[in-house]
Amino acid sequence: MPRIFSGIQPSGELHVGNYLGAVKNWVELQHSYDCIFCIVDYHAIIGAYEPDDLRRRTADMAVSLLAAGLDPDKCTVFVQSHVPEHTELAWILNTITPIGELERQTQFKDKAQRQESVVAGLLNYPVLQAADILLYRADGVPVGEDQVQHLELSREIARKWNARFARGEDFFPEPKPLLTATRRVMGLDGQAKMSKSMGNTVGLLEPFDAVWEKLRPAVTDPKRVRRTDPGTPEVCNIYHLHKAFNPPETVEHVATMCSTAGWGCIDCKKVLLEGMKRELGPIHERARELSAHPDRVRDALATGADRCRALARETMGYVRERMGLV
Ligand code: TRP
Repeated sequence: MPRIFSGIQPSGELHVGNYLGAVKNWVELQHSYDCIFCIVDYHAIIGAYEPDDLRRRTADMAVSLLAAGLDPDKCTVFVQSHVPEHTELAWILNTITPIGELERQTQFKDKAQRQESVVAGLLNYPVLQAADILLYRADGVPVGEDQVQHLELSREIARKWNARFARGEDFFPEPKPLLTATRRVMGLDGQAKMSKSMGNTVGLLEPFDAVWEKLRPAVTDPKRVRRTDPGTPEVCNIYHLHKAFNPPETVEHVATMCSTAGWGCIDCKKVLLEGMKRELGPIHERARELSAHPDRVRDALATGADRCRALARETMGYVRERMGLV
C-alpha cells in the first residue's frame, strides 16, 4: 500500500474549515493507504506561545482527530515530538538546503514581514516539514493549495539527498501532493477563509445551540435585503456550506427556494443546521466517549509513536550510514 503522510498544527479543537478542507479527506484515505497523521508540535513552538496552552491544544487536537473518524486500527496518529528523529533529519536536511530557496517561500515572506525579529525556525520551517515526510519515505501528502510550495521544496530536498548520498538510488521517494477536492471553506463572516486567527470559525465539537447562535446572524447574499427579494445562491456563503453538509437533492431545493424567495435566509439556515447535525452528531458522540475515556486517546498516540519510532529508526540508520555518521 502506498504511504501517505500529513501533518496538522496543534491548534486545539478542529473547526469546520479544517474538517471539510482536510481531515474529512484523511478519514477517507485511511481505508486505501498506509496513512500516518502527525500533530506537529515542533512546528507549533516557532513564535510566542504558552507551554500549558500548547499541551492543552495538542490534547484537544488528538481528541478532535479521533472523534472526526481517524481510526487508530486503520491509520497511525501521533505527536511529532514523541519521535525526536524529526529534528535529527531536519538538521541533516538543513545542511543541503539553500537559504535562497527558503527565503523564496511565500509563507515565510508573509510571516517574516509582519515580525520585528525573525527566528531561524521560521525560515527553516519547510525543512522540518520535509523531514516529517521523508522520515517515513511517504509517497503522497494530502495538502491544501497553500502547502504546495513547501511540498515542491520537499521534493527538491529528496532529489538532492538521493543524488548526493544514495548513489543515485531513489531512497527518498519524491512526495506527491494529493490536493484535497473540497474548496476552501469561508468563515461565517463570508469575508475570509475560516481560521482561528480570524475568529470566524465554527468548532467541530461546538454544541448545536451555540452553532445556531453563530449561524443565525451569519452573512448571506448581501443583495438580498428584504425577505421578498429573490437571492443568488452562488454568492451566498451559506449555500456553499449546504453543499458540504447536505445531499444534492437538498442543495438543489435550497437553490430553488432561495432564488424564488420561497424561503427567507433563516428558513435556509435551519435546513443547514439539520445537515450539520446529521454529519457532526456522530462526531460529537465519539468526542463525548473519548472524553470519558482519556486513556483511549493516550493509547492511540502511544501506539502511533511506537510505530513511527520504529520506522524512523530504520530510515535514520540508513541515512547515518550513507552520510558517514558513525
Ligand atoms: N505546514 C503544514 C500546515 O501548516 C503542517 C505540516 C507540518 C505538514 N508538517 C507537514 C503537512 C508534513 C503535510 C506534511 O498545514
